Amino acid sequence: MNDASRTGAVEGGVEEKLMERLTNAFELARWRAARRMQGGMIGFVPTMGALHAGHLSLIEAAGRQCAHVVASIFVNPTQFGPQEDFSRYPRTLEPDCAMLAEAGCDAVYLPEVAEIYPEGFQTSVRVGSLAEDLCGRVRPGHFDGVALVVTILLNRVQPDSAFFGLKDYQQFLIVRRLVTDLALPVQVVGLPIIREADGLAMSSRNRYLTPEERVRAAALHQALLAARAARRAGEEVGRELERIARAHLEQAGLDQVEYVAVRAADSLQPITRVTDQEDPVMLLAVRLGSARLIDNMILARVD
Ligand code: PAF
Repeated sequence: MNDASRTGAVEGGVEEKLMERLTNAFELARWRAARRMQGGMIGFVPTMGALHAGHLSLIEAAGRQCAHVVASIFVNPTQFGPQEDFSRYPRTLEPDCAMLAEAGCDAVYLPEVAEIYPEGFQTSVRVGSLAEDLCGRVRPGHFDGVALVVTILLNRVQPDSAFFGLKDYQQFLIVRRLVTDLALPVQVVGLPIIREADGLAMSSRNRYLTPEERVRAAALHQALLAARAARRAGEEVGRELERIARAHLEQAGLDQVEYVAVRAADSLQPITRVTDQEDPVMLLAVRLGSARLIDNMILARVD
């Protein structure tokens, strides 16, 4: 099943590369060794499945930069709180694999929980202040789980580059920090948010929205655009930019706002007054029905 260069004939005689499914560390190591023999870089896209065009943009970017692309699908229990959506998180393995193959992914790693967290597991990975505020405050322990599983996956896959979507902006900074701090030999690449036609950032959790909530969810993007427009019109006060975005959300009936925050784009430190030297990031988190939605935008003065 996992030999190095599987190809399959398709109609018309065209050869199509098949995607390999790797279910354990042994198969993964064998796949990696064969790819290393062939030469060229290995790109890695970690996911929790329930894939959408945002994930596929990561696979495609990895394919442009690397000779070999491997994704993982693992719904990581340690990054969910006890009251969170671990058990109902969408698990759509077959459509996910079809989408990955179509996007040019060469292999997918599909570990079981016991493969990642074997009997007796007791190690933790904690990133400091970057992980404490915003989503870290609302979801205690979430980023510890993310940092842990990303460290394990990077160690297992040993890619040259790993690709993350910037919708999870805080997660991206945390992963970049831990890779630097632990001197992991991998380049961390962050790629732009992919949006629906009305601006809603693509997310596996959008499928929790009812049709009526789905319409209202576009207000997250509009709130960010309103804040960016205010900055471009000369507004410098972080609190005022936050007020403008929050008002936008509330007007759209999104009253369960967890946070609206203008922060330094690299450190996520609060910003009192925006300067011309640095474009800050605005981050939002909102509860809408049974979904929790996040989004962000660099409040750039010019495009
Ligand atoms: O962003 C995600 O899908 C997850 O947090 C990740 C990085 C795959 C870790 O489980």
